[in-house]
Amino acid sequence: MAELAGTATEHRDYSRIDVKPIAGALGAEIEGVDIASGVDDETFGEIHRAWLENHVVYFRDQNLTPAQHIDFAKRLGDIHPHLLNKGLEGYPEIVEVKKVPDQKLNNGGRWHSDQMYTPKPAKGTMLYSRELPPTGGDTMFSNLYLAYDALSDGLKKTLAGLKGVHNGDSRNHPSGLTRMERITAGIGTIPQVDPGDAQIISAHPLIRTHPETGRKAVYVGSHTESIEGWSAEESAPLLNYLKEHTHRPEFTCRVRWSLNMLTFWDNRCTQHFAVNDYQGHQRSIHKIMIQGDAPF
Ligand SMILES: [Fe+2]
Repeated sequence: MAELAGTATEHRDYSRIDVKPIAGALGAEIEGVDIASGVDDETFGEIHRAWLENHVVYFRDQNLTPAQHIDFAKRLGDIHPHLLNKGLEGYPEIVEVKKVPDQKLNNGGRWHSDQMYTPKPAKGTMLYSRELPPTGGDTMFSNLYLAYDALSDGLKKTLAGLKGVHNGDSRNHPSGLTRMERITAGIGTIPQVDPGDAQIISAHPLIRTHPETGRKAVYVGSHTESIEGWSAEESAPLLNYLKEHTHRPEFTCRVRWSLNMLTFWDNRCTQHFAVNDYQGHQRSIHKIMIQGDAPF
């Protein structure tokens, strides 16, 4: 397993696409691609490499139908259906992440990595912007490789072997309500489904190894409630430290959306945060996730 270059500024040469890093830590804009008109294998190979090297990449000015969005996501792997969010009518692979003008809380307004509470969390998430506020509604990202690299050898040693327990539907949400309670209370606009017997609490290594790059990353987020085998009280100080540490400003970038933009990130080495600063306006994003492996 080859180790890839570590930071956004060490990107390699590309012949089919232009890759423009937007921050020192992570994030890049990709130019020279019109996804709707077809992406050949060589170009897709470069996009995949740019994704692994920059962790979050985006393409502006794409005109994608829901079917084209799904087809492009499938180039990376099978679709990871959201266990709790209901998909679009006719396109169950797509969840519409919508915030309406009078809605106070937004979706994703905490630092997290998608689906970490499932046994095999989504490796990637692909968002396509359909409706945006005049300003605001940016998405922030943090680089969990850099967060790991910055830890002391002592703490790295302590964390090795520990697992975080992640809960997909607890009252540990800013609203203090479960997902269904939020819908009943009129907070939140994504229709929810009953997950049935699906597992929505999972334990994964706090330090995970990226299966494609071989690099280690800190794997925590807002869904992380305890350390396996520890009480909630014992877990809190260490988890709170890690949660704060993972989004230090120097590990982050901020993606400013434009209409019809496709943003695509790697959940195995990043966290993201949807900034809630556009009260009174509507925002609608189409979201597709791609299946990953069990973290190790
Ligand atoms: Fe998310």
